[in-house]
Amino acid sequence: MTTENLSIGQEYEITIEKLIYGGQGLARFQGVAIFTPFSVPGDKLKVCIVGAEKNFFRAEIIEILEPSANRRSAPCQYFGRCGGCQLQHLDYPAQLVAKAGFIRDSLKRIGHFDWQPPIEIKHSLEFNYRSRTQLKVERATDPFQIGFYKEGSHNVCDVESCPILAPELNQVLVKLRKSEKEIALSEIPYSKIDLVKGDEGISANQIVADLSSKAICQRVLDINYYFDPSCFFQVNQYLLTTLIEIIIGTRKGKVALDLYAGVGFFALQLAKTYQKVIATEVNQKASHWATHNIQANSINNVEFHSISTEKWLTKFSRRFNGIDLVVLDPPRVGIIKKTLLSITEIRPKEIVYVSCDPSTLARDLRVLADSGYKLASITGIDLFPQTYHIETVAVLERIN
Ligand SMILES: C[S@@+](CC[C@H](N)C(=O)[O-])C[C@H]1O[C@@H](n2cnc3c(N)ncnc32)[C@H](O)[C@@H]1O
Repeated sequence: MTTENLSIGQEYEITIEKLIYGGQGLARFQGVAIFTPFSVPGDKLKVCIVGAEKNFFRAEIIEILEPSANRRSAPCQYFGRCGGCQLQHLDYPAQLVAKAGFIRDSLKRIGHFDWQPPIEIKHSLEFNYRSRTQLKVERATDPFQIGFYKEGSHNVCDVESCPILAPELNQVLVKLRKSEKEIALSEIPYSKIDLVKGDEGISANQIVADLSSKAICQRVLDINYYFDPSCFFQVNQYLLTTLIEIIIGTRKGKVALDLYAGVGFFALQLAKTYQKVIATEVNQKASHWATHNIQANSINNVEFHSISTEKWLTKFSRRFNGIDLVVLDPPRVGIIKKTLLSITEIRPKEIVYVSCDPSTLARDLRVLADSGYKLASITGIDLFPQTYHIETVAVLERIN
């Protein structure tokens, strides 16, 4: 790339080739990569260059010369200002194609896998799916602002309703807006309010309006999961059983490990088809609820360790051989190489790696593939429609 080719402030006509992870459109102008937000593959655009990085330029749309057949007007009035969604201007089938592309690109560029088979993206309804959210509150303004952070800032975009939230959470948002005075005058700062919808109502991390902060229960495939609003729980209410079906499916055996267990979402389902399940979780609150959930569901074959995966592996892993399955569902940062290598030393027959970041997933899959495991399948699950985020489930099998 030569910077002489393009200059900041100049306008160019480009055609978007594809979306990249993060949601921006990629175009090439005289061989130089240009990234443009709110564009769609196939769009012919007039753009203005607004920034130069080492290997690419950033641009903004000046005019849509010819819209892609997949472009639609965003259903949400706040789209473009609110930082929550990046893809509302694409019809839903095009969002799914883009997300399969994010996974494939990461596997190739970061993991050096030449993955040829199609990547299926399981999906459900594209709106009203979120059963958990965190509302941001700005009390210093008059009137106060409640909603979500604006793109790239910690300023609050004031929203009256959000199309990806479950209707019940939108009703709470209306209620909170009516409680402006209570919130503005409260001694509690209320900068963030966590809301979660359970089978029998909503709970919040703060007592505000007439919300309670009691634990809630969500029943999935005959298991009751209890947790409070500060704990991690999968956000997409329509895809909870699909997630379990992909991760567990018809798998069965003697011993399964669930090494980032949260409140026991996978561990308690694994207990139905494995003789013994061992689970680790580092967060104290999540561990409390996991232990509670094991008892509340009268499960007696899950051994739960409130400890980091790394410490558990160092302390106990030498005792184990004959592990059938390891489920890994780490935070976005993924898993450090040393931990991955300790897992391969236990020699499980299968590893199912669940990830919300295709980049760290691809990096970690390379370590596993270089340590005796074959990538057997890749499936996407669109837990986060309208955003660039995508959940991926990778299955690895031990080679010998
Ligand atoms: C993406 S969540 C998945 C939780 C669970 N599998 C579920 O589906 O609800 C990741 C979990 O890993 C936990 N965690 C993060 N670092 C950890 C570590 N080093 N050892 C064990 N657990 C960890 C987090 O507290 C969180 O509960």
